[in-house]
Amino acid sequence: MTDSFIIAIDGPAAAGKGTLSRRIAEEYGFHHLDTGLTYRATAKALIDAGLPLDDETVAEKMAREVELAGLDRDILSKHEIGEAASKIAVMPAVRRALVEAQRRFSEKAPGAVLDGRDIGTVVCPDAPVKLYVTASPEVRAKRRYDEIIGKGGSADFEAIFEDVKRRDDRDMNRADSPMKPAVDAHLLDTSEMSIEAAFQAAKSFIDAALSRNA
Ligand code: DC
Repeated sequence: MTDSFIIAIDGPAAAGKGTLSRRIAEEYGFHHLDTGLTYRATAKALIDAGLPLDDETVAEKMAREVELAGLDRDILSKHEIGEAASKIAVMPAVRRALVEAQRRFSEKAPGAVLDGRDIGTVVCPDAPVKLYVTASPEVRAKRRYDEIIGKGGSADFEAIFEDVKRRDDRDMNRADSPMKPAVDAHLLDTSEMSIEAAFQAAKSFIDAALSRNA
């Protein structure tokens, strides 16, 4: 048993779940963990050490050394780290190691918001609130494109679109813990919804669950 109120938020990249998760954590004074960063940190540690990305034993050892406290999306956001993370995320031993750390994090009182791909299905299947945040691949590619252009960079929309689809395919079709909505998850399609509207919808699900728990 735990005294923590857990909010599980899953969905594909660039659907808005990161922004939504941070906003929810702030609203309720809960801890927040972006679990994608745990896969990214493991991948970066392997790359930095010049180690292969296809050796499960070596990758598991790195996964066990990841410190959740020091994770920083700015350092881990590079495209090649995301690609490498998606590759090592198919390895059951890596997933086991990171899921253990994520579950320990989820027990922090008074509550925790975890976002990722398998939080509602595998990491915290008993979470009282589960959200599955999605948007069409076109909308997600456009958001990523606008973000890069907004930061003064240059980007190729078609290449980003192909990348989004390839990443979805890998995340949805892996054998261990594929990305999918939990049967009891609330679906939020943000294709034509502002972040504010998504937040208000999420808030109503959370408030209803909190009053059931009270
Ligand atoms: O959300 P992100 O782009 O930072 O995630 C990086 C990779 O990690 C992504 O391809 C899928 C994987 N991942 C996962 O398998 N399970 C999670 N709970 C979070 C991320």
